[in-house]
Amino acid sequence: MTHSLDKNIKIKKDYTCHSSLSLLKKTQTQRKKMFTMQYKVELLTGIRPTGDLTVANYLGAVAPIVELQAQGVSPVVFVADLHAITDKEPSAVRQHVHGIVADYIALGVDPQKTKIYLQSKIAGEVTTFTTFLARLVSVAELLRVPTLKDKLKNNARPETANALLLLYPVMMAADILLNRAEKVAVGKDQLPHMEVTCLLARRFNKRYGELFPIPQVLQVKSLRILSLRGEGKMSKTNPGGAIFLTDDAKTIADKIKTAETAFQGVMNERLESLILIAKGLAKTESERDEVDAIIEAHKSGKPVMGQFKKMLTRIVQNFTEEFQAKRAKIMQDPSCISSVLEEGARVARENAIETLGEVRRVLGLS
Ligand code: TRP
Repeated sequence: MTHSLDKNIKIKKDYTCHSSLSLLKKTQTQRKKMFTMQYKVELLTGIRPTGDLTVANYLGAVAPIVELQAQGVSPVVFVADLHAITDKEPSAVRQHVHGIVADYIALGVDPQKTKIYLQSKIAGEVTTFTTFLARLVSVAELLRVPTLKDKLKNNARPETANALLLLYPVMMAADILLNRAEKVAVGKDQLPHMEVTCLLARRFNKRYGELFPIPQVLQVKSLRILSLRGEGKMSKTNPGGAIFLTDDAKTIADKIKTAETAFQGVMNERLESLILIAKGLAKTESERDEVDAIIEAHKSGKPVMGQFKKMLTRIVQNFTEEFQAKRAKIMQDPSCISSVLEEGARVARENAIETLGEVRRVLGLS
C-alpha cells in the first residue's frame, strides 16, 4: 500500500520484507506501543561520498530532502563513509567527505533543521551493532540479496570481491536501527537492503524481545533523467552525457547543444527528461510556465527545440552558477562544515549509545 506525500515522494506503508515474515497487521499506534523503544529519528538518509554530483543526483536525492525539510520534517542525513570503503580506498573516500557536505548545504539542506553526520564518527557503535546483527542472518541469505547477486553477475567475482560487500546491507541495517528511524529515504536500488533491515529488526525482536520499531521506506520516486547522449540513465560513468553541478557555463551550453531531443510534434523519453531538468532547476514559476508554453508549441508541431534548448541552458547555468558561488563560500570557511558535522555527530552518538546500551542489556551483556 502506498500513499503519496507529494509529487516526488511516496511512502511505502507497512513495507514488509517477505510476506511470510510480515508483522501482524497492526495499526501504527498499536505497533508503536508494542516496542520498548520508540522511533527517534523522523527521517533518515545515507549518502555515499562519490565526488561531483550531477543534476540527476540533485533532482533525485537532494531536492526531495530539501522539500521535506520545507514541509517541517526534521531529517537526519549522514555521509556513509564506511559503506563507501567497500570499493574505494579509505583515504580517497575521506577526500570527498567535506565536499559532499558542502554540496548538500549549498543545495538547500539547512543544518539548522537537518542534522548531518559522518558515519565513521560513530564507527564503534556501527561496527559493534553490525557484528551483533550479522549473527542473525546466514551467508546464504546474504548471497541471495539481489544487489549482491547483480554485482557478482556483472562486475565482481566472489574470488576478488571483498567481504564488506557481503556485509553491506547488514551495516545499513545497523545505521537505520541505531537511529531508530521512522522513515528511511532511499532510491529504488536500495530496496533490497531495506528488506534486510526489516528482516534483521524482526529477527532481533523475536529473539531478544520487541526492541526495535520497524522503519518505513520512503521511496524517492526515481525520476528518469537520461544521459544527454542516449546511453541510458544520466550517470557519472558517462560524463559526456551528464551535466555536473560543477560544470562551467560553456560546458553546459555545449552539452545541451548536442543533446538529443525529439522530432517536431513528438514526445519521447529524452525530451521528457530534459523537461524534468528544466522544471526541476527553474527558480521561478514564470520560468516553469515558459517551459510549458514552449513544450505546448512543440506538441502542436512548431519548430521550437532551438528555443527550448536556449531556455534550458539558461536555467541550468543560473542554477549551477548560484550553486557554485554558495559552495565556494562554504568551502572557504572550513570551520563551518566541521561545526555542522560536530553537531550532527553529537546527536547521532547520543542516539547510537542509547540504542546500543539497550541492545547490550537485552543480550545480557550489561
Ligand atoms: N547504501 C546507500 C546508498 O548507496 C547508502 C546508505 C548507507 C544508506 N546506509 C544507509 C541509506 C542507511 C539509507 C539508510 O545509497
